[in-house]
Amino acid sequence: MGLKLKGRHFLSMLDFSADEIEAVLQTAAKLKSKGPRPEKTPLLGKTLAMIFQKPSLRTRVSFETGMTRMGGHAIYLAPTDISLGKRETTEDIAMVLSRYVDIIMARVFGHDIVVDLAKHAGVPVINGLSDYEHPCQILADFQTIIERRGQLKGMKACYVGDGNNVAHSLMLGAARMGMHMTVICPRGYEPKPDVTAQSTTVGRETGSKITVTDDLAAVDAADVMYTDVWASMGQEAEADARRKIFKRYAINAETIKPAKRDVTILHCLPAHYGDEIDYTTSRLPHSAIFDQAENRMHAQNALMLHLLGALGS
Ligand code: CP
Ligand code: NVA
Repeated sequence: MGLKLKGRHFLSMLDFSADEIEAVLQTAAKLKSKGPRPEKTPLLGKTLAMIFQKPSLRTRVSFETGMTRMGGHAIYLAPTDISLGKRETTEDIAMVLSRYVDIIMARVFGHDIVVDLAKHAGVPVINGLSDYEHPCQILADFQTIIERRGQLKGMKACYVGDGNNVAHSLMLGAARMGMHMTVICPRGYEPKPDVTAQSTTVGRETGSKITVTDDLAAVDAADVMYTDVWASMGQEAEADARRKIFKRYAINAETIKPAKRDVTILHCLPAHYGDEIDYTTSRLPHSAIFDQAENRMHAQNALMLHLLGALGS
């Protein structure tokens, strides 16, 4: 099954079939079970280029540490290092990097940039977050949900907050895997209509119900509750205005009440405590926010092994 993924790009949750996502998640669980010092180095001699247009803690450190653990090497390219699109075109960057490295990960503003990189690169390109999607995050989240609740299919997940990149990937991924997804946002901050339409269509094939509403009562009987910042990277100027608009759309003792008693609480981090989630709720025993952060590394390591055809080596 892994061979089918060799040489592919991972820009969107819809780039992979349910079987392919399942295969990556199974590899991720195996890697995690090996503990902190895996004895094998399957990516010995391989290099990952990491392009960043935006800041990061988890994405940078999990990819870089992941490559180290697997015997490979990662190169961090800061926003000012290559000035993507200003100093050099995306096309030329993709063509040059492909002559040096084995795989590319990029965190960008416009989603068209990762699409363009993938179009011109001769090696796999991974979306490390764009304004439109954050698929690596959702692989880690799915690993976490399986650890906490045993499965994805048939689970009811609720996302409360801004209909942003993380919400988009969650909806598309949930639809693919047969998980129900209720997205609860203030009016005017819903996910992009094409994402809602696409996930609804895909969900029809897998039995996943996709709902978008402004009604917090829709949290009813949720297995999973997820939130993210109200102002994403690039929206800093809107942060104060958004704080007022989103005030009710937070995860706290009140909003989790209609959910299951042991509802799994998720947040991709970084968190703004007191805004989209309060500190106490984030530290409940059924909060898995730091498992999510850890699983970024396992899920991405699994992803890179599949994309590089390095499984079993
Ligand atoms: N969740 C996540 O992608 O974190 P960073 O922005 O720190 O990479
Ligand atoms: N929606 C957030 C996710 C951060 C990991 C952002 O894009 O800033």
